[in-house]
Amino acid sequence: METGQTHVDGTQRPAPNISKLNRLARYHKRVTTNPLHQSPSDFTTPLLVVFAADTAARDAAAIPALLTTNAAILAAASPWLTSGDFKATLGETFPLPAPTGLKAQRLLLIGLGKANKLTPHELRKAAGVAVRFARPRSLRNLALALPEDPSLTAASAARAIAEGAILADFDIDFYRADRKDLSIQSLTVLTPEPITPAVQIALGEGAILAESQNFARTLINEPGNILTPTELGKRTADMAKEFGLSCDVHGIDKLRELGMGAFLSVTQGSPEPPALIVLRYEPPTPPAANSPVIGLVGKGITFDTGGISIKPAADMDKMKYDMAGAASMIASMRAIAQLKPNVRVLCVVCSCENMPDGHAFKPGDVVTAMSGKTIEIMNTDAEGRLVLADGLHYAQTLGATHLINAATLTGAIGTALGQINAGLFSNDDDTTQHFYDALTITGEKFWRMPCTDDYRDQIKSQIADIMNSTGSRYGGATTAAMFLKEFVGDTPGAPGSPIPWIHLDIAAVTWLDDQKPWQSKGPSGVAIRTITEWVRSYAK
Ligand code: BES
Ligand code: ZN
Ligand code: ZN
Repeated sequence: METGQTHVDGTQRPAPNISKLNRLARYHKRVTTNPLHQSPSDFTTPLLVVFAADTAARDAAAIPALLTTNAAILAAASPWLTSGDFKATLGETFPLPAPTGLKAQRLLLIGLGKANKLTPHELRKAAGVAVRFARPRSLRNLALALPEDPSLTAASAARAIAEGAILADFDIDFYRADRKDLSIQSLTVLTPEPITPAVQIALGEGAILAESQNFARTLINEPGNILTPTELGKRTADMAKEFGLSCDVHGIDKLRELGMGAFLSVTQGSPEPPALIVLRYEPPTPPAANSPVIGLVGKGITFDTGGISIKPAADMDKMKYDMAGAASMIASMRAIAQLKPNVRVLCVVCSCENMPDGHAFKPGDVVTAMSGKTIEIMNTDAEGRLVLADGLHYAQTLGATHLINAATLTGAIGTALGQINAGLFSNDDDTTQHFYDALTITGEKFWRMPCTDDYRDQIKSQIADIMNSTGSRYGGATTAAMFLKEFVGDTPGAPGSPIPWIHLDIAAVTWLDDQKPWQSKGPSGVAIRTITEWVRSYAK
C-alpha cells in the first residue's frame, strides 16, 4: 500500500493509485547486442542489413555501392544497384526477400547518403531505420553487416550501430491497452575482421549510452500525475541501487534547513512534496585530492502550469516534460556509473510542481535564494531558473569544481534556434571546447549563445538583487542564462575566477512532434550522450 503524503500546509493527501500504470511504464526489455566475426552470407537470420552509400559526385546521378566485400551479397543485390530502384539516400530502404546465395530470409539494403560525407552519425540513423523496419514486421532478431568504408573505424561504426538501433527500439505508447511488444530481442553485428577489444568495448558503450537515453525518454514521457517529484525520486533511487551510485532523496525539511528560498517558492503552490535528489559517482580508484569534481544540475519540474502567471491551455499538456533536464542528468549518471571514468561526479536535481493554489508564490514576491541573493518574482512561469539557482549553489557547496546544468528553460531558445540546435551558454571557452569535442563524437547539435555581462542590467531589480523575468520579448534565452550565472560563484581559493559552467537550454528539442524514420515521436533524450562524453573528457 502506498502511504499518503503530507502537504506543506500539514494536511494529508492520499497517494494516487499508480501501481498498475507503473508496471506498464517500466516495461522495457533489453536488446542483446553481440559482435560476431562471420561471413554475412553464411549467417542464418530473419533479417540481414547491409549498408550502401552513393559514390556519385555532388550533382551527378546516384551511383549506389554496397559497403561490403561479400561476393554473395554483391551478386544478390547488384541488379538493383544499377536499376535506379535504390539510390542509397540516407535512410532509404530496399528489401530483398529470399535472396539467392544467402542464408538470411531477407536482405535489407539501407542508404547512408553521400559516400564522401559519411560519418558515424549517418550510420547511427541508418541502424535506427533498420530497427524501425523490423519492428512492425515482428522481426525480433536482426543481423547487420558492419560497413566496410575507409572513413569509418570498426569501433566507431559498432558504437553508432548499437546507439542507433537501441534508440530506435523506443516507443511512447506505454499506456495503450492495444500496445504490442515489438521490441527487438537481439542484434548481431557481423564483422569482416576478427573482433578486437576496441570493437567489443565500443559496442558495449553504445548500448550503455542508448539504454540510458531511453531510460530518460521513459521518464520524460510519463504524465505528471504518475511522475510526481516523489516518484522521480523513487525511480532515481532504484536506478542508483542497480548501478552502484549513492543517492539521497531529500524532502521539504532539507530545503528549509538549507535555506533554498528560491526552490521553496516554486513548490509552495502544489500539494505534491518536492524532491531534492543528490547522486554521487566515485571512481574505482580514488583520484588525487585536487582533481576536478563535476557537478550536474537538472531542472525537474514535473508539471509547469506557469503558476499564478498561468500558461494558456493550448499545449499545456506538454509541460509534463519540464523535467527533461533532470532526466538527462539522472540518465547521464546512469551511463557514467557503468562507463566508470576516473573522475568524481555529483548530480543535483531540484524537482517540484509549479501550480497555482492559494499558497502559491505571486508576482511581486521577494524570495531569498540559498546563496543569499534576493529575487523579485516578476513572473511565476519563470520558475526553472529559480529551482536551478538553488541547485547550482548547492552543487558548489558539495564541492563541484565544474558545473553543467540542463533545463527546458525558455520558449525563447526555440525562437532563436528552431528545433534543430539546442542552446549552450557558458562563462568559459575551455569548458565549452570540451563540450564541442564531445559533440563531434555524439553528433548532437548545440549552438553557443551569448551570456556576457553587458546583458546583466536587464535582470536588475528596483527592490531586490535581481528579478526572475525582464518582461521584454527580446533575448529571453540569454536573460534566463544571465540569471543562472548569478548563482555560479568563484572557484574556492581563487577570487575573481568563476567556476567554469555550462547551461544547456533544451526546451525546443526535448519533444519531437513528428516521428523520424529512425526515431519515435515524443521525448528525444537529447544531451545525455554529450554530457557523458564531456564528463569523460575530465577523467585522468
Ligand atoms: N518550462 C517553460 C519553458 C518551455 C517552454 C519549455 C516551451 C518547453 C517548451 C518555462 O518554465 C517557462 O515558462 N519560461 C517562460 C519564461 C518567461 C516567463 C520569462 C517562457 O519561456 O515563456
Ligand atoms: Zn514556466
Ligand atoms: Zn518550466
